[in-house]
Amino acid sequence: MNASPARTKADKDRLHARQAALAICLALLQQRQSLTALLATHTKRLANAQERALCSELCYGFCRYYFVLRRELAKRLSKPLKSRDRDIEVILLLGLYQLRFTRIGDHAAVNETVNLIARRKKAWARGLVNAVLRSYQREVIEPERDTISSLSGEEQALAYPEWIRAKIRQDWPEQADSIYRAGNQRPPMVLRVDLERLSREEYRQLLAGQGIDSRPHPQVASALQLAAAVEVESLPGFAEGWVSVQDAAAQLAAVLLQAERGMRVLDACAAPGGKTLHILQHNPGVELIALDKDAERLPRVAQNLQRAGVEAQLICADAANTDDWFDGAMFDRILLDAPCSASGIMRRHPDIRLLREAEDVPALVQQQQRLLTAMWQLLKPGGQLLYSTCSLFKDENEAQVEHFLQNCGNGVELPLNHVQWGIERPLGRQVLPGQLDMDGFYYARLLKQD
Ligand SMILES: C[S@@+](CC[C@H](N)C(=O)[O-])C[C@H]1O[C@@H](n2cnc3c(N)ncnc32)[C@H](O)[C@@H]1O
Repeated sequence: MNASPARTKADKDRLHARQAALAICLALLQQRQSLTALLATHTKRLANAQERALCSELCYGFCRYYFVLRRELAKRLSKPLKSRDRDIEVILLLGLYQLRFTRIGDHAAVNETVNLIARRKKAWARGLVNAVLRSYQREVIEPERDTISSLSGEEQALAYPEWIRAKIRQDWPEQADSIYRAGNQRPPMVLRVDLERLSREEYRQLLAGQGIDSRPHPQVASALQLAAAVEVESLPGFAEGWVSVQDAAAQLAAVLLQAERGMRVLDACAAPGGKTLHILQHNPGVELIALDKDAERLPRVAQNLQRAGVEAQLICADAANTDDWFDGAMFDRILLDAPCSASGIMRRHPDIRLLREAEDVPALVQQQQRLLTAMWQLLKPGGQLLYSTCSLFKDENEAQVEHFLQNCGNGVELPLNHVQWGIERPLGRQVLPGQLDMDGFYYARLLKQD
């Protein structure tokens, strides 16, 4: 008989999908780190793509249905868990998620979840987890499994914290229910084809040749929506920049900017560089300066540009501290893709509902105002600034632009009334999440008068 091979350090460091999911969800709640960042760190310790996919599925589901499942859990506990037992709460929620929303068999869902207790040294919790999951298992009706429609209309709204639910209802009373529903969906994987390189139809054929099914977006000329998500490495020409992963709503920015060859263009909040690359591909021959204040995110802009073989001047700075970086040459076009609540992209980043708080919004509105005011000083007379956010809150969007135009004295809006997407607002245009299957975005184009 062969002796079993000695375990290497890599083996010992290895995690299973559910252990990683537990560590990620706990860190998200306790250290308030983003799901994207936590997944990037923890999934390195998983053995293979299957484990990574399961871990990611559990974490996304946990965040998407956290507020729904917590209510379900509360109904089944005789008294609330203590704050030091947050780990047990996360284990229970991960178990409930698997039973209600996945195709994982009941037996595996319950047993594997109970097994997570072993490493926590809280033997008392085994019985509790077992009992709660088994009782839930009996109640979840089989045909409801694995489908978003198993959320009742009321639950669609309850899947958000109270303050987000109320703010959506206040800003969009007529659309609130469809916004709640759209934010609970799984987002499509959408590609942006570099139309300077090849046509969307040509690229679609290349995808079809690889067995990847896609359909053209009805309103965004460069966008192809995939029938199912794939690894980017399997996309033809990805390494050469023929194609990028970018939601259709985000693909509108570079076109709305209307830059032309020879223009000096500023991308004031550029990282990770999705729109920077699009501007360069859509407008060859512009002189682009891409700025971001986050030193950890800025290298991602460089990677994006390198992949496609295009160049820009990258600067790490607070855009509003112009003394630190501005060389005095004014800009023809400025894209201000401002930091925001990200309330329009909760289907793509469900952790936002756990991480953001009501007090964040006024602070973001202040930051946006500061950036708008500072960027306006760098724009040539006759130049245009495109203001965008992935928010659906009016304070960050139309009210922000209204306040700015009232105070700046030399700006007018260039209405976006020639397009077929989004909702025309008194100032700018709003895409609500799910409209034309897009993320929620806001755009306003401002002209600087002499
Ligand atoms: C919405 S994201 C930009 C997304 C990017 N435009 C894209 O399409 O990939 C906002 C960015 O603004 C940056 N940011 C926030 N405040 C800033 C400031 N004062 N100056 C420069 N960048 C800032 C953040 O680091 C973040 O990367």
